[in-house]
Amino acid sequence: MSQFETAVDFKQTVRQRFEQDGWIATPAPPDAIGYDIELVRDSECVAVQIKHQRAKTHAGQLEKFIDFLERPEAAKFTRGFLVSGSGFTPSVFTYMRTEEVVDVALASFKDNEIVWEDGDVPPPPARSQLTYIGVFTCKGGVGKTTISAHLAGAFALNGYDVVLIDLDRQSNLRKLLGDGVYIPGRRGGLGATITVLNHTEWDEAEYPETRVVICDCSPEYDANPEAFIEKFNYCLIPTTLNPLGINKNADVIRRTFAAVRRSNTSAELFVIVNNYHSDEAKRNEVLNRILKTEFETLMAHDPKCHYIDPETVAIRFSKQLLYWGYHIVENDKPQLAFREIGGRSLPRTDFLKLLDYLEDHTQIEAAKAQETRSSAINN
Ligand SMILES: Nc1ncnc2c1ncn2[C@@H]1O[C@H](COP(=O)(O)OP(=O)(O)OP(=O)(O)O)[C@@H](O)[C@H]1O
Ligand SMILES: [Mg+2]
Repeated sequence: MSQFETAVDFKQTVRQRFEQDGWIATPAPPDAIGYDIELVRDSECVAVQIKHQRAKTHAGQLEKFIDFLERPEAAKFTRGFLVSGSGFTPSVFTYMRTEEVVDVALASFKDNEIVWEDGDVPPPPARSQLTYIGVFTCKGGVGKTTISAHLAGAFALNGYDVVLIDLDRQSNLRKLLGDGVYIPGRRGGLGATITVLNHTEWDEAEYPETRVVICDCSPEYDANPEAFIEKFNYCLIPTTLNPLGINKNADVIRRTFAAVRRSNTSAELFVIVNNYHSDEAKRNEVLNRILKTEFETLMAHDPKCHYIDPETVAIRFSKQLLYWGYHIVENDKPQLAFREIGGRSLPRTDFLKLLDYLEDHTQIEAAKAQETRSSAINN
């Protein structure tokens, strides 16, 4: 957090610093949204957005700034600068790399200085234990396999060494991804790989570099090897917001909590909304309130149960995810639904935001491997 008392003081100081660097810096008009300062120098006209907040600036905020720069009223700007008083989450750097953002530069404001980020993944914290994440709901077809695979993809893109384990007898994950999947980096740059294993093939000793293990569970609780459930540090519970299923889904989640607790009392459980339609704000708000109310008493009894508010993070419904896996029909090589369509990948943004959320609400970030680069081998 910066040493400045108010956002106004902070913005004023940043503006003066730009002026010292030879820019003509004008504060945005009071009714302007999307930027705080306009900078002019030679033929350049730059929109500066300033983040004065306690938490690190996250990928969702970067995306919003990019959206602003693409709007007609921002046409006069040649570039954008995002200046944070509290740094950036790792997902912001991944977003910059994978979306190949060229017209936005990131800077931190520290000790009265503008410090430009080099666009690279920041050095990870010291390594620690292996983190097990289960993706489990005792209901079929809610997106367990989809979320397991793409969350692993987000981890890999952020430099984590991650292994995906198929606990489901249906072996959907293995059918979709075989032994592993390669996620391409930007033009010729570093990509990332995820190893995919059957639960019988997993041996911690054989994967000393691995820091995160994501388990795709069977909807039938008893079909999942108990030895794995016991190890879960965190469990993601996918659900959906639809009116007919809302009470049933609440019941399913309640049963899911109870099932996990039979063999694991310490795991933190997070409900995540999948198939979210973000353009249905009003109806979502109502459904969201109903679902949240259902869990309030439950969460009061078990402080390790959490409901991720879909307004903060949800996995949106997307065609890319719906048809993800089509490569098996075409006998093509495995891939995730992270490829851009019209310059964007909705799923990739959602999963990076989910990872941001988890890093913020768990100890996962501490588990990141020292050798960020070696886990992202360009094979
Ligand atoms: N956000 C989404 N948008 C569009 N389609 C989705 C989304 N999430 C999942 N799907 C689709 O829903 C179907 C079921 O998803 P998935 O197989 O991941 O569910 P599951 O919970 O693992 O099912 P099972 O219980 O059979 O293992 C898949 O065809 C997938 O493509
Ligand atoms: Mg599945």
